[in-house]
Amino acid sequence: MTNEAPTQTNFVKGSPILAMARRAAELRLAGRDIVDLTLGEPDFAPPFHIADAAIDAARRPLGYTPSNGIPALRDAARQAVARDRGPIYTDSEIAVGGGAKQVIFNAFLATLKAGDEVIVPTPYWASYPDMVRLCGGTPVGVSCPAQDGFRLLPSALAAAITQNTRWVILNSPGHPSGAVYSREEMEALADVLRGQPHVLVMSDEIYAHILYSKRTYMSIAAVAPDLRDRILLVDGVSKAYAMTGWRVGWGFGPEALITRINAIEGQNCTQTATLSQIAAVAALEGPQEVLSKRNTIYRQRRDAGVAILSGSPALDVTVPDGAFYLFPRLIARSDDVGVADLLLDGGVATVPGSAFGAPGHLRLSFATDTHMLEEGCHRIVKTLGARA
Ligand SMILES: Cc1ncc(COP(=O)(O)O)c(C=O)c1O
Repeated sequence: MTNEAPTQTNFVKGSPILAMARRAAELRLAGRDIVDLTLGEPDFAPPFHIADAAIDAARRPLGYTPSNGIPALRDAARQAVARDRGPIYTDSEIAVGGGAKQVIFNAFLATLKAGDEVIVPTPYWASYPDMVRLCGGTPVGVSCPAQDGFRLLPSALAAAITQNTRWVILNSPGHPSGAVYSREEMEALADVLRGQPHVLVMSDEIYAHILYSKRTYMSIAAVAPDLRDRILLVDGVSKAYAMTGWRVGWGFGPEALITRINAIEGQNCTQTATLSQIAAVAALEGPQEVLSKRNTIYRQRRDAGVAILSGSPALDVTVPDGAFYLFPRLIARSDDVGVADLLLDGGVATVPGSAFGAPGHLRLSFATDTHMLEEGCHRIVKTLGARA
């Protein structure tokens, strides 16, 4: 790889979250006692019936599947979205990919051309801007500060839309903020979008089941059925069923878009691994109590983390309504990268808010063993100073 000509992918630096996790792992390997609060991945194993379905299937011949997945998975996902969120989709309105991530990427690849803009409410999941750039578009960050509950205001959305806007991303519950939109808030955003028929909506609902808010979960697809032809509703098994490594996600949307996403999937990797698709069917069709049981555990962890971190005058902690991250604001400091380094010296790995477009914050994952989470939060308070 010497003397290579620059390509249009040279700007991609790789995930800052994984970079921090790697540093934590290296320090641990060198014998340091580090609590790792970097990774947003459930620490639970998936329920056993899911593994059993995969083991049974692995003993049989496993061939290729259609690029939009096995019919059983398409059916199970369609039934799940109708059950949880209301909208009913046909079999030609679903695409399946290697995680929600691949579906989002394929959708951008299918639709973006140079000059197209994608509105990215900020703080954002660190992958969105790079995905947009990789597909030839321009990410346009719109600030959603803590005082607005990290939610996109209709006025801010309206102000950000131009003739070149192709997509707006809505991510509720949000990563890294945990912000969840109420029905009224979604309706207000839908009102703005009704007047802008050239804008598509990327509704990333991967955290839909990790929810603590008393509000009923509201997908824009349920709130604004009249916008259905412009919405891609994305979900998958990664977070809800603790199946990140299985790589199964899907998207529901208008047939023309879905057909193009499926064609890209077919020419890219053919399909999501057959075994993983079978496991995902077992997750969707099996007992669902696991979702509420785990939510109870996540909520206890969230509350424990918030209680400990609130003991530091250096932090302003917002209580998230969903997902499994705390995203405290650093009071009187904006050098979040320096603070994350300081905390690593103090024995706890976090991710600086700059990775999510929000300098002056830190992200901690509470998809982490409760004892480790509490220990990590105590170390943060000790390093940054406790209230007198
Ligand atoms: C907001 C958001 N969307 C999508 C994904 C990717 O999900 P998957 O594992 O299904 O690709 C993540 C993973 O961290 C995420 O945080």
